[in-house]
Amino acid sequence: MKTALVTGASGGIGRATVEALLSRGHRVLAVSRQARALTALGDGVVPVEAELSTEDGRARIAAAVSGPLDVLVHVAGVNPREPLASMREDTLRTCFEVNFFAPILLTQALAPKLAAGGAVIFVTSTLSQRAAPGTLPYAASKAAVEGAMRVLSLELGERGVRALAIAPGLIDTAMMREGRNEQDVAALAALSPLGRVGDAAEVASLVVAAAENRFLSGAVLTIDGAMTAGFPR
Ligand SMILES: NC(=O)c1ccc[n+]([C@@H]2O[C@H](COP(=O)([O-])OP(=O)(O)OC[C@H]3O[C@@H](n4cnc5c(N)ncnc54)[C@H](OP(=O)(O)O)[C@@H]3O)[C@@H](O)[C@H]2O)c1
Repeated sequence: MKTALVTGASGGIGRATVEALLSRGHRVLAVSRQARALTALGDGVVPVEAELSTEDGRARIAAAVSGPLDVLVHVAGVNPREPLASMREDTLRTCFEVNFFAPILLTQALAPKLAAGGAVIFVTSTLSQRAAPGTLPYAASKAAVEGAMRVLSLELGERGVRALAIAPGLIDTAMMREGRNEQDVAALAALSPLGRVGDAAEVASLVVAAAENRFLSGAVLTIDGAMTAGFPR
């Protein structure tokens, strides 16, 4: 049985990823700050309560991984929206702590346990490639992760471990809906030629496909219903 570890497991994409990996027969260590939210995920799930942005939290996660780790999926993230004029230093720093430092330092802590043939998958965002006002901390932190991922694909690749990023566009989760009403969501959906936003399960199925494809590494896979493919009519 393969073992996977998923951060942000209580959220929309994280929970869907845990469910998708379970359905493929993985044992899944599911990391969240709210362990209670994870117990409902069922058999095969090992809940790990941890704050990713602290050294203690990352040490707790590393201690919970007893054997070889086949799939490491970094899903946890925060998405503050502050334009430059009112952007707080604290917002910038917290965003990088959770979105960049936490997954990179957790990867470093878990690297000795990553099994040959395994994969490290970072959930980033299309905002790293195509900007929107008010997203500086978020877009920059996700772009930094994609840069780091390419280096990791070279360093970890030497021992058969792959690294890649999955960059979703708008996906219907609590993060996407925060501060938006139904009309806002409908307006965003209209930006895609498909006329809708994505579903967390659609991202999760790409995570599983990427984890299983033994030649996929060093790449950023976009999943956004063609929202960033070009200009709308
Ligand atoms: N939804 C979208 O449109 C979209 C688009 C592009 C990229 N993404 C990316 O997809 C990922 C998942 O987002 P989502 O939409 O599923 O959002 P979500 O429902 O808000 O989930 C975010 C998750 O991050 C975890 N998290 C946040 N801060 C944490 C911390 N300090 N320590 C540990 N865990 C922390 C939360 O877990 P706990 O609160 O339980 O600890 C939560 O499970 C994020 O990286 C996000 O940037 C989302």
